[in-house]
Amino acid sequence: MRIEIFDSAEEAALHTALIFKQQAFKNIAEKGRFNIALSGGSTPLSAFAILKQKAFADEISWSDIFFFWGDERYVAMDSLENNSHMARQVLLDHVPVPEKNIFTVNTALSPADAAIDYEKKIRQHFDSEPFCFDLILLGIGTEGHTASLFPHSPLLKEQNRLVKEIYVQSKHQNRISFTLPLINAAHMITFLVCGKEKADITGKILNADGADENIPATSIRPVNGNLLWILDKAAAANI
Ligand code: 6PG
Repeated sequence: MRIEIFDSAEEAALHTALIFKQQAFKNIAEKGRFNIALSGGSTPLSAFAILKQKAFADEISWSDIFFFWGDERYVAMDSLENNSHMARQVLLDHVPVPEKNIFTVNTALSPADAAIDYEKKIRQHFDSEPFCFDLILLGIGTEGHTASLFPHSPLLKEQNRLVKEIYVQSKHQNRISFTLPLINAAHMITFLVCGKEKADITGKILNADGADENIPATSIRPVNGNLLWILDKAAAANI
């Protein structure tokens, strides 16, 4: 596990964009494509906005990149709460990614059918290859959730499905989320965490001895991949 700490959220976002570009170059050079699952929420939007800037956008082979989301809120596709909608607004609508390379959760289906449908999209995309994303970006909530794996969630025990639906009481919302087996199969997992409100939980996670279902982010342990934490100083105050 690597931890990289930056003076500001802006510098942490820039580093995240550099990691994206570096991993895209590496994977496209090695196998002709780059499979990434983006995180939701607000933290990654600064990194997405940097990626659409000319200095980055002109150097990235967007048609070789395939976009998924580690979780999605069960809201309308055009809702400002919808993770894929926000990523389109901030990045994907501004770079030449073919629509066929963007795999969104279909929240017009029922939560259970949306999860089944999304898992089918993932299995079809990887075809006979292992279901290993090249990069999964994650964030954390102040209580330690990541993707839509919340404290004491039954999803934490899911070992067969790649994607499952879950009603999140604390958010009064259905979510569709990657499960731990799919996340931990990734070649690289990167947490981007910024802000003083995340300092307490970040300290607990990075000082934890092992997986703790009170803090789901402690269960993010890549089986064969690399784990990178990108923090600003404010979020890193307790480590
Ligand atoms: C989501 C995310 C979630 C997010 C954290 C942090 O759909 O909300 O995928 O896991 O990463 O809630 O969100 P912020 O970056 O907005 O603090």
